[in-house]
Amino acid sequence: MKIPFLDLGRMEASLKHRLKERFSDLLDAGIFSGGKEVEALENSVCDFLKSSFSIPCANGTDALELALRALGIGPGDEVIVPAMTWVSTAEAVVMVGAKPVFWDTDEEGLLRKDWEKAVVSKSKAVIPVHLYGKMVEMADLTVKAKSLGLFVIEDAAQAYGSFQNGRAAGTWGDVGCLSFYPTKNLGALGEAGMCLTQDEFLAEKLRLLLNHGQPLRDQHELVGRNSRIDTIQAAFLNVMLEDFEANQQKRKTIAKRYLDAFSGIEELGLPSGILDSDHNAHLFVIQTEKRNELRDFLVKKGVGTAIHYPVILPEMKPFAIVGDFENARNLANIGLSLPLNPYLRSVEVDVIIECILAFFRK
Ligand SMILES: Cc1ncc(COP(=O)(O)O)c(C=O)c1O
Repeated sequence: MKIPFLDLGRMEASLKHRLKERFSDLLDAGIFSGGKEVEALENSVCDFLKSSFSIPCANGTDALELALRALGIGPGDEVIVPAMTWVSTAEAVVMVGAKPVFWDTDEEGLLRKDWEKAVVSKSKAVIPVHLYGKMVEMADLTVKAKSLGLFVIEDAAQAYGSFQNGRAAGTWGDVGCLSFYPTKNLGALGEAGMCLTQDEFLAEKLRLLLNHGQPLRDQHELVGRNSRIDTIQAAFLNVMLEDFEANQQKRKTIAKRYLDAFSGIEELGLPSGILDSDHNAHLFVIQTEKRNELRDFLVKKGVGTAIHYPVILPEMKPFAIVGDFENARNLANIGLSLPLNPYLRSVEVDVIIECILAFFRK
């Protein structure tokens, strides 16, 4: 039996049918940029996340860059970024001409709480990343950032549908950034992203920046760019949203089965809080010193896994910064993501559990 880490081709027939129908409707309507599907997406996300504004764009990396630009961050400025995240978080900072300043994470990859030690006079913002879908403690972070005069840009690319104290990931910061990359809990059939904000002025600025600075066609107020969402991706996301909550249930059920099965294995670190509302169960990352052996063992058994992420950002070629990033580096060495997605079959979960128990019984 082959169990892929994630195979999006396995979507249920009913979902495929609805997606094809929506595609066919769009072809007939002949609207491929902007339009009702984009508006519907904005409204649905605002309702579900209780956000005042949602501004769809081309992808999550652009969302971060647009957020930085909207907040006026650029050359000469510093932005605090966790050492363990997807590379986009720091890339966006460099793309606006500012400097990412890396800070270590806790053992599970969330920005360490003493990040304010990185603050200097050039610091303009901090980017907490809700890694693997688990939220950074946002009440503390936002209070601290405010007292230090820093903007907060939430990288909620992996955390659509996580809520802390009833407030959604992405709605705590000055701007929150979402990715709808196909593998995310809410994924498009291609590239898409979104900025969230509760500030009308920022919402307007973000909209201008992603559409060549135009409030109206041929009226250019500032230098922007094209980072509009494709109508077709907005339409697919509207369909995907119909299944979002049911899919979340499936993820949580699988996560609970893993937790129950593995809780007795002393050598294994399990994701904390994955069943809580401030974790959307995007990834199930276990930690073991035997990570590479376990991964090889699972490959032989036909079970796919992934590593998020094998290299920390400060050690990547474009950044190359020497520093003490012990927790982040440790996670890169011992973290392993198990299959966790709505398309996983119950018998496959049985097999994965059995394989891991067998590995640690050896
Ligand atoms: C933490 C994080 N930030 C940013 C991004 C960028 O999103 P996108 O791939 O849509 O550009 C991703 C997505 O992979 C991510 O996981």
